[in-house]
Amino acid sequence: MTGSFLAGVGGYLPTRIVSNDELAMTIDTSDTWIRERTGIIQRHIADDRETAAFMGAAAARAALDRAQIGIANVDAIIVATSTPDQGFPSTATAIQAQLGVTKGFAFDISAACSGFVYGLSVADAMLRTRQCRAALVVGTEVFSRLMNWQDRSTCVLFGDGAGAAVLTWDDETDDASGRGIISTHLHADGRFGDILYIDGATGQSTKPQKLVMNGREVFRHAVGKLSDAVEEALHANGLTSADIDWLVPHQANLRIIDAMGKRLNLRQDQVVVTVDRHANTSAASIPLALAEAYADGRIKPGHLVLIEALGGGLTWGAALIRA
Ligand code: UT7
Repeated sequence: MTGSFLAGVGGYLPTRIVSNDELAMTIDTSDTWIRERTGIIQRHIADDRETAAFMGAAAARAALDRAQIGIANVDAIIVATSTPDQGFPSTATAIQAQLGVTKGFAFDISAACSGFVYGLSVADAMLRTRQCRAALVVGTEVFSRLMNWQDRSTCVLFGDGAGAAVLTWDDETDDASGRGIISTHLHADGRFGDILYIDGATGQSTKPQKLVMNGREVFRHAVGKLSDAVEEALHANGLTSADIDWLVPHQANLRIIDAMGKRLNLRQDQVVVTVDRHANTSAASIPLALAEAYADGRIKPGHLVLIEALGGGLTWGAALIRA
């Protein structure tokens, strides 16, 4: 049975932008350090109204608009978030209510920064087995509410935002073009749970908790594990890096992104970068980057797009998409 088709992608970013210089007014850091070590220039920060569900619903509406699919057709909502509005009900059901969807099913998944790749994989599997017909996969995060704003080693790295993709299948067109989700490759290794985690109870993105990260260790794992996942994805489909049109990586650090581009022998202009303007928006970073590259016409029908991410868990994965 053939897979699912990525029909549209959309994003939402809070209006408030915080520059590196603004952060340097309250903590011991500098624009130079942040740019040189991470590539980040600014980040968007949510206001009280902009919860994970609010931003996720906005991104979902944008994705549905681009897909030209009516809300009434949506029958699955899968939300990747580490900053849900509440422990339960899920952010997915909150988004369902905000969109006015009253059929199908909705649930959250927890895979930290790999959440969108995980969500895409789950949605693709459910579409392949015809458990739904039009699925929204949403990554939405308000990491600003998890930050210890006195910890310069983490608080400069993250931002808020949401991205969403609409996946569908269509009996008439699903096999001829080869377009759609080609394959997804997920991994986790819980032995490394202590190098990136949220300290404290989860489930209230409106209450302060603390994100803890051993950045150097996460960095050490990132390039190796991501390279392996990417190699696995290419090998599984008899493809090589020369076949890739676009790398749309998780946006954590420009040095990791550049290293991945080099390993794949890609030109710099084949790598979609948003970390400079968005910082690390965790599960939202890939759909936000995809939304930008689809909207400005870089990704065109038929292009081969590779996505990859690594995050807390550790979790990581890659997926190949024919746009
Ligand atoms: O999305 C989930 C996955 N996350 C990631 O992939 C993040 C992976 N890790 C990273 O991106 C990098 O490790 C960081 C950006 C977090 C840190 O970069 P680094 O080159 O590994 O720096 P470091 O942690 O080794 O710190 C170097 C120095 C330290 O000072 P000393 O000990 O050498 O004197 C830090 O205290 O930089 C200092 N430092 C800062 N200085 C100014 C740490 N944060 C800051 C800061 N401003 N904001």
